[in-house]
Amino acid sequence: MYDFTPDPAAPREELYADLTQAALALVADEPDPVANMANLAALIWQFLPRLNWSGFYRMIDGGLVLGPFIGKPACIRIALGQGVCGAAAQSATTQLVPDVHAFPGHIACDAASRSELVVPVLREGRVIAVIDLDSPEPARFDETDAAGLERLAAAIAPHV
Ligand code: SME
Repeated sequence: MYDFTPDPAAPREELYADLTQAALALVADEPDPVANMANLAALIWQFLPRLNWSGFYRMIDGGLVLGPFIGKPACIRIALGQGVCGAAAQSATTQLVPDVHAFPGHIACDAASRSELVVPVLREGRVIAVIDLDSPEPARFDETDAAGLERLAAAIAPHV
């Protein structure tokens, strides 16, 4: 059993540091990337409040394909440059979107989503996946979340 207990009162930098530590503990001994992504999607969901979607899209044959996630069923394939995830994958940069309705080409997988944070997972300089977080709350994510999730993505990259 894994019993991680995030402290909701902790400063967010600390929460993300704890999340990364827990993530590394989860994936350290497991070579299967799907199992690791599944546990990581659940762990992010457990640590970060006010989400309606938490999960992965994997880069396969030059496009994004849905990976393990928590949330409503989502679109399966996303072309590079399409939507928030496709923008993150194409540019290899974090996309912090306070209002998804203002993002040109945003793909609505859940009508409840209002803001989104997508961070690329890089291995040897190449995008191998993205981590996608959605929230029903406008402007749920800020630079602290982006930096925290980028550190998590860097830490777990060898394991997904
Ligand atoms: N909103 C994303 C699509 C994926 S879902 O949010 C799970 C996008 O615009 O790329």
